[in-house]
Amino acid sequence: MQRLQKIIANFGFCSRRKAEEYIKKGKVFVNGQKITELGYQAKESDEIMVDGVVLEKKQKEYVLLYKPRGIVSTVSDDKHRKTVVDLIQTQNRIYPVGRLDYDTTGALLLTNDGELAHALMHPKFHIEKTYIVKVNGLVTPSMLKKITHGIFIDGKRTIPAYGKVKKYDKKKNTSIVELTIYEGRNHQVKKMFEAIGLKVLKLKRETYSFLTLDGLKPGEYRFLTPKEVKKLYNEIKKQ
Ligand code: URA
Repeated sequence: MQRLQKIIANFGFCSRRKAEEYIKKGKVFVNGQKITELGYQAKESDEIMVDGVVLEKKQKEYVLLYKPRGIVSTVSDDKHRKTVVDLIQTQNRIYPVGRLDYDTTGALLLTNDGELAHALMHPKFHIEKTYIVKVNGLVTPSMLKKITHGIFIDGKRTIPAYGKVKKYDKKKNTSIVELTIYEGRNHQVKKMFEAIGLKVLKLKRETYSFLTLDGLKPGEYRFLTPKEVKKLYNEIKKQ
């Protein structure tokens, strides 16, 4: 027996969080009975229907997308903007693991593997992510120190990060910084720079864990190899 939201995510229907929303909204039926209780225990062999769809075991799929600018990192958008899922040809209901902002580019993982997605997004696992950040102003060593040692955003200190200045443009008064963080809080990089008085002008995620954008152009994607999937699972197990 497992928690219902976990089973729904394991089927690859949606994330565990989204499954909880469906349960709370009364859109989940187990063997014909409506369930609205989040702690409800069920079996994978039960007939589970979510939002009118009876769940069936689907092949797990893992995609690395080079997210372009001007696309939302959701499955659907109430403003009818193009989403990252629209860029990928698949029969499966894959969804992004975490988010990149509308104007952020770079490495984004999508999957229908609820177990892996949930773990990768969980704050207790510190998945490494490296960003190239263009900011207004010249980043000084003391500013960098503040950012990398931990800085308060939304009332909570960020965990130590690594940063180095790659380039200054004194004429345009901008800096390019390479920043590696181990969390995935909302708008984290922008807020970290905002906290030291700088505005992020451009943001690109170069790497997600060991996955890089090598061989991909903006808008392009590739499927992960079984070896890479295993490596991602190992990332979680070793922490
Ligand atoms: N941090 C941000 O501020 N935005 C992103 O898209 C990713 C990390």
